[in-house]
Amino acid sequence: MYRFLFIGDIVGRPGRRCLQDLLPAIIKEYEVSFVVANGENAAGGVGITPPIFNELREMGIDVLTSGNHIWDKKEIYPFLNKEKRLLRPENYSSPHVPGKGSGIFFLNNFKIAVLNLAGRVFMPHVECPFHTAQKQVALLKNITPNIIVDFHAEATSEKKALALFLDGQVTAVIGTHTHVQTADEQILPQRTAFITDVGMTGPYNSILGVSQEPVLKNFTTGLPQKFTVASGNSQFNALLVEAEEKTGKALSVLRLNIINIT
Ligand SMILES: [Fe+2]
Ligand SMILES: [Fe+2]
Repeated sequence: MYRFLFIGDIVGRPGRRCLQDLLPAIIKEYEVSFVVANGENAAGGVGITPPIFNELREMGIDVLTSGNHIWDKKEIYPFLNKEKRLLRPENYSSPHVPGKGSGIFFLNNFKIAVLNLAGRVFMPHVECPFHTAQKQVALLKNITPNIIVDFHAEATSEKKALALFLDGQVTAVIGTHTHVQTADEQILPQRTAFITDVGMTGPYNSILGVSQEPVLKNFTTGLPQKFTVASGNSQFNALLVEAEEKTGKALSVLRLNIINIT
């Protein structure tokens, strides 16, 4: 038996500070042996940079996944080609797209795979996540039954559908992207752990991590605004999953939503 933690989209400096405050104690308390986090908003709310990737790795995060915002900081493009622990969604078919959508990592005496996919409903155009998942999971299963999927998608239906499509084939399907945690964590019939959206680790008094003033101005006037990351107190959102290393089947799930008042 082992436990891994999946942390919802890290937003800006408040998200990173929140991890600094809480992550070491959470890893210790829950005896977590592998940590995955979605880092697509880690740098000022949009994208991730190599120094911020390194900062997050030093905090104890083993693998960073991403989504539509991975392309926002151009300096990450060459870095994606050389850093195996930073993933972008797998379902880009062009050979000109840098980076990889999956990786295999060693954990004590067994291997664990992470697969990052993006949804297509109300999202930028990508290849079919279902067909991509089928192909990739078949390859990864030859190496390990322990497979964690980050499905970065907007629509709740698309996320549940992919989770059921992969039930029994992977250890967990974790939804990301909306920055709002759903209270529907579950273990599907064939023992795949699932949550529609794991949420956000970032500023608490905000609109999805962004300061409310420009968002309200945008909604009330229709005029474009420059969005900035909110400041102040933060929240930590994650899903803790316990699984069997031999079979890759989930045993239990625990959703974490911690409000960090500083
Ligand atoms: Fe995000
Ligand atoms: Fe996103």
